[in-house]
Amino acid sequence: MVRYTMLCIALTMSGCIEGSGDLIDENKIMLILGVETSCDETAAAVYDSTQKRLLSNSLFSQIKLHEIYGGVVPEIASRSHLEKIDIIICKALQDAQKTLDDIDVVSVTTKPGLVGSLLIGTCFAKAIAWGKNKKLIGVDHLHAHIFSSFLKESFETEEVEFPHLCLLASGGNTAFYLVKDFGQAQIVGQTSDDAAGEAFDKIAKIIGFGYPGGATIEKKASEVKFQDYFGYPRTKDLRKTLDFSFSGLKTAVLYDLVKRGAYDLGKGPIWDAVTPELQQKVSSSLLVCIADIFEKKLELAFKLYPQVKAFTFVGGVACNSYIKNRLQTVCQKMGKKFVCPPCKFCGDNAAMVAFVGGYKAQRGQFADFYLDVLKT
Ligand code: KG4
Repeated sequence: MVRYTMLCIALTMSGCIEGSGDLIDENKIMLILGVETSCDETAAAVYDSTQKRLLSNSLFSQIKLHEIYGGVVPEIASRSHLEKIDIIICKALQDAQKTLDDIDVVSVTTKPGLVGSLLIGTCFAKAIAWGKNKKLIGVDHLHAHIFSSFLKESFETEEVEFPHLCLLASGGNTAFYLVKDFGQAQIVGQTSDDAAGEAFDKIAKIIGFGYPGGATIEKKASEVKFQDYFGYPRTKDLRKTLDFSFSGLKTAVLYDLVKRGAYDLGKGPIWDAVTPELQQKVSSSLLVCIADIFEKKLELAFKLYPQVKAFTFVGGVACNSYIKNRLQTVCQKMGKKFVCPPCKFCGDNAAMVAFVGGYKAQRGQFADFYLDVLKT
């Protein structure tokens, strides 16, 4: 694998462009190697598109490298991807009991994300495809999340009936999609500022939790049984639009902490006043507030798009059991199917990239070696 790392570096530096290999029979496409490096996870997975089954899912999380900075440092992220990518791809191949020679298609996330990080995965994928004469596919990270709802704990896949609604809530995105078919997802509502995960992470930071903060907020909220102590403001136009805004909520929490003597606008958190009890109350009030917003928006979405049969909840925030239960209850009331992938497929992973690579391959949507992370 070392020579592919070298080839990757050479391609990165030279921008080496060559034509793609011989055309292969699309009906014979079986094994897809998925590669994901858009942010702070280096991930690879092997998907068998004939059996519609994942064979492996391997991942290295960089959280430990970034947590002391309270967020992702792009330069550290790209360096770590370069160090780990060959190890993770080898692991995915070994777990699948396959070699690179068995792979038919390399499918890689090319956008959106941190440019340096995307470049590592994309150049590595190009290098493998070029060196081993494989087909290449570029995948949009958001589409990969949207179709992660097809992935099951057992590594089997199961189609969610089209059209369906999808709420993608991660650290970088919060949006509603009307998913009409494979690869056809129309945005019908999105955040105008922060993402929901970002709101969890930023507020977690000011009350003294590590990065990322979403899971800790949920744990603290569960300790006080998800009570709404502080009644933070719900978004304006809650029942009128599917768009979101979370930056006002973050400011409201901050000013509430100032009022309680736990935050100084000049100096930051006043740690003596940030008691475990206050941490629980802020966490619980914040979680209930965001769940309320999602719940009301989902009710509106079902009114606006009555034709949908199902709703899917994806992205890192979909690991949150409290929000999941609230949204599942809405679906039950409205007679819609609720689908949420297992947590390992909610956060960034390569299984979803390999899966999207599978349906794009069946449609002949291959990339050439001009595949680029800067194109929109
Ligand atoms: O999809 P994801 O892994 O990727 C990025 O956007 O990078 O999502 C990460 C986000 C973080 O903001 C994290 O705090 C949030 O998902 N998250 C959660 C939970 N687990 C992860 N938010 C709320 N509750 C959770 N249990």
